[in-house]
Amino acid sequence: MIVSAYVFSDGVELAPDAIAATAQALRAGQLVGLPTETVYGLAADADNATAVASIFEAKGRPSDHPLIVHVAAFDGGMSGVAHYAGRVPAFAQQLMSAFWPGPLTLILPRRDGVGAAAAGGQNSIGLRCPAHPVAQAVLAALRQPTAGEPVVWGVAAPSANRFGRVSPTTAQHVHSEFADRPDLLVLDGGPCEVGIESTIIDCTRGAPVLLRPGAITSEQVAAACGRSLVTPEELDAQGQAAPRASGTLESHYAPNARVRLMDAKALQQALDMLGTDVDKSPQPGKSIAVYSRAPLKTSARQIELRRMPTDPAVAAHELFSVLRELDALRVKLIWVETPPDTPAWDGVRDRLQRAAA
Ligand code: TXA
Ligand code: MG
Repeated sequence: MIVSAYVFSDGVELAPDAIAATAQALRAGQLVGLPTETVYGLAADADNATAVASIFEAKGRPSDHPLIVHVAAFDGGMSGVAHYAGRVPAFAQQLMSAFWPGPLTLILPRRDGVGAAAAGGQNSIGLRCPAHPVAQAVLAALRQPTAGEPVVWGVAAPSANRFGRVSPTTAQHVHSEFADRPDLLVLDGGPCEVGIESTIIDCTRGAPVLLRPGAITSEQVAAACGRSLVTPEELDAQGQAAPRASGTLESHYAPNARVRLMDAKALQQALDMLGTDVDKSPQPGKSIAVYSRAPLKTSARQIELRRMPTDPAVAAHELFSVLRELDALRVKLIWVETPPDTPAWDGVRDRLQRAAA
């Protein structure tokens, strides 16, 4: 069931009833599709172990893969941090001041006895203070309950997709991803502005470690805390195993079609080789989709050509939607032009490489 988080009258305003109903459902231990500025999350009360277990079940996600806990923006998110996290290093504090609320997740030492189920049994916890006004309104309502209701400190929310699949960036995506649960409440906050998941920085190893690139680049992170970032590979080389993160599994974010990355020249050569006859089967429809920044040419009717935006932020914003649209054409292959090897493209390049793996 999709419920709009907004009322549209003279302008656009938050719908208080929809926010209250969502907070109520979360308090009752139910799952909710929640908009954030990155992607939609499948949310539950982070301190309710039964509710958290139902997230893993709904996603088909292994229960030892930790979830991100989302906290309200009071005190810049600090009271939520104090509830879930133990010692917060100074550089992590600087990152919160610089980027919260926003698309940055920090892995911090977990306080004993809190959020264990959400953390998938790890002694750390991933915390994020999202910037989306709808997410913040729900988190604020949970933190300021009416008399007799318990305070909910945070909401565990992985991306609202089945394990290994493409993350949802609209309420409709969430609804179709969980088509077998038509009663799932999905709060519609519009299309996600960022479009790819948050940047994840592990703050438990003395220096900031980049676990997942996102809209906030490693350069921005390094500049904000005055420390250079360590990669998981460098940690491995030092004999310290990098923590487990499903968003860092080699194959993830995968559509049904096979994704292949190529440079523009190789793409055009491949199209030229196909000529006009891609598929001699009488079946109508497209066989191959191409998603490139460069303008390409083909005379084959069964090829769907789509242009990738040249601005990395715009490309991120539409990436998962485009992958879903191309999948809906039932193409067998999606050929994508490899994004530039620059920091601004790290997030998009990472998601595409995993979709292709
Ligand atoms: O933008 C986002 O981060 C979205 C929205 C909904 O906030 N959430 C998201 O969650 O992408 P998910 O579960 O799909 O990815 C979270 C990643 C996983 O790869 C998980 O393993 C890692 O964060 N993670 C969470 N807690 C962790 C911890 N304590 N240690 C290491 N990795 C952790
Ligand atoms: Mg995910």
